[in-house]
Amino acid sequence: MTAVLVIHGPNLNLLGRREVRVYGPATLAEIDARLRDLGAALGASVTCVQHNGEGDIVTAIQDADGRYDGIVINPAGYTHTSVAIRDAVAALGELGVPAVEVHLSQPAAREPFRHRSLVAPVCRGSVSGFGADGYLLALRGLLSQVGGEGA
Ligand code: DQA
Repeated sequence: MTAVLVIHGPNLNLLGRREVRVYGPATLAEIDARLRDLGAALGASVTCVQHNGEGDIVTAIQDADGRYDGIVINPAGYTHTSVAIRDAVAALGELGVPAVEVHLSQPAAREPFRHRSLVAPVCRGSVSGFGADGYLLALRGLLSQVGGEGA
């Protein structure tokens, strides 16, 4: 069975209460349940983690080597600043564990400091602007790359 790790970055634990107009009403627990359900329907096991710390995210990415076939990652605020997360994603990609980046909002339509993603260039693909549904689209996209049964 294909194994996927979903990594949520800082402040995404507040979803459902955080800037609902921007990020939508779904809680992280609801998004994770939808991801696990879709994964089960497509023959993949989905494990979801959330970290506020940059180093914790780097460690989670590194630890995916040998355990997961691919990663869905919303680096949240670190998207625009973190060379360390970019380097970890790049390293895993070279080891054969590709990543898909996801954002609930459409950063390109927001403040200029959100327009650049340091992580996107080392990801297999990116999904932005579709709210919580974007995570499901990212999972489908990742599975189409790594060979999930129903993808
Ligand atoms: C975000 C967009 C980022 O710019 C922001 O810092 C977030 C969430 C999104 O999912 O739309 O925390 O990654």
